[in-house]
Amino acid sequence: MMNDEWIEDIASGYRQAQVLLTAVRLGVFSKLGEHALSAEELAQRIQCSLRGTRILCDALAALGLLVKEKDAYRNTELGVRLLVDSGAESRNPMMLHNALLYERWAGLIDAVRAGGKTTPLPDRQTAADKHAFARAMAVAARETADKTAALLNLSRASKLLDVGGGPGMYALAFAGRNPQLIVSILDDAGTLAVAEENIKHAGLESRINCVAGNVLDAAITGKYDFIFISNVIHCYSSEQNRRIVNRCRAMLEPGGRLCLKDFFVEPSRTAPEWNAVFAVNMLLGTENGDCYTLDEAERWLRDAGFGRFQRVQITKRDAMIIGSMLRQEQCAAD
Ligand SMILES: C[S@@+](CC[C@H](N)C(=O)[O-])C[C@H]1O[C@@H](n2cnc3c(N)ncnc32)[C@H](O)[C@@H]1O
Repeated sequence: MMNDEWIEDIASGYRQAQVLLTAVRLGVFSKLGEHALSAEELAQRIQCSLRGTRILCDALAALGLLVKEKDAYRNTELGVRLLVDSGAESRNPMMLHNALLYERWAGLIDAVRAGGKTTPLPDRQTAADKHAFARAMAVAARETADKTAALLNLSRASKLLDVGGGPGMYALAFAGRNPQLIVSILDDAGTLAVAEENIKHAGLESRINCVAGNVLDAAITGKYDFIFISNVIHCYSSEQNRRIVNRCRAMLEPGGRLCLKDFFVEPSRTAPEWNAVFAVNMLLGTENGDCYTLDEAERWLRDAGFGRFQRVQITKRDAMIIGSMLRQEQCAAD
């Protein structure tokens, strides 16, 4: 409910975010690992001032992100799992991505005035940046990919294309659950380097292949019976998304299905809250991107000749719509 404290919490939320993101960037959680260290010891290991380290760590402890006992700091159990670089469940690639986005968010006033991004972005220019972004996407997809694969019936599909498949987490989940399936991931070459690492690690090189290209304009060949597009349409305008849908249609076998998965918003565009705020991220980071409604996505699909729509809620933030390609006479009757 709206009151003074609630407004103040929103207004100062950047402080908590910066305390956490700065600690990850400095390696506070990773240097602590499973040990307890005094402020002096930790300051030395992260090569920072004693005063800065002490104040930062006290704030981390106040937020519940570290534990302070006598004069020593240690990680929480959750911190060891999620915030230490070497942990199998480390979320740090996503934290570093958020730290980078933070710089972009400082320019929100200019983006709102101009209606889009106003300066070249500091991220995603070099191969190393693409690598870092793909690793962050892998963290984001960790739980959602398997949930999505569990909700899609791919038992009759033999060739699936994952457009903008990034680090390949969805491709891995689809291939893992459907032993008959051959999966192709379409993305740019820099991003696919991360997918290739993940595919190799899973030993699925014989069933998942990578194709470098841009779905909007590359000459893409091949026919598929299922095309999956996750978290790509929010980068583009409605017109560009219609083009993507039409290009995908041309790559589908008769009766094939196209799935658009994204952070969809309700018709009012004000919920879910996280998705409505994510749309601001697209205002800052893209020329024309946005969060769309499922009705809008259905219209793009319907106008391209799809029917028999199925809407599936995956998590609070993620939903998908699946359309089947109709034959000409079905289109007319639909
Ligand atoms: C936000 S990431 C999503 C990655 C993955 N699909 C997921 O949901 O985790 C968007 C991905 O789409 C790729 N992408 C964006 N536009 C594309 C295009 N026009 N053609 C091919 N890939 C594209 C980006 O390189 C990036 O890897």
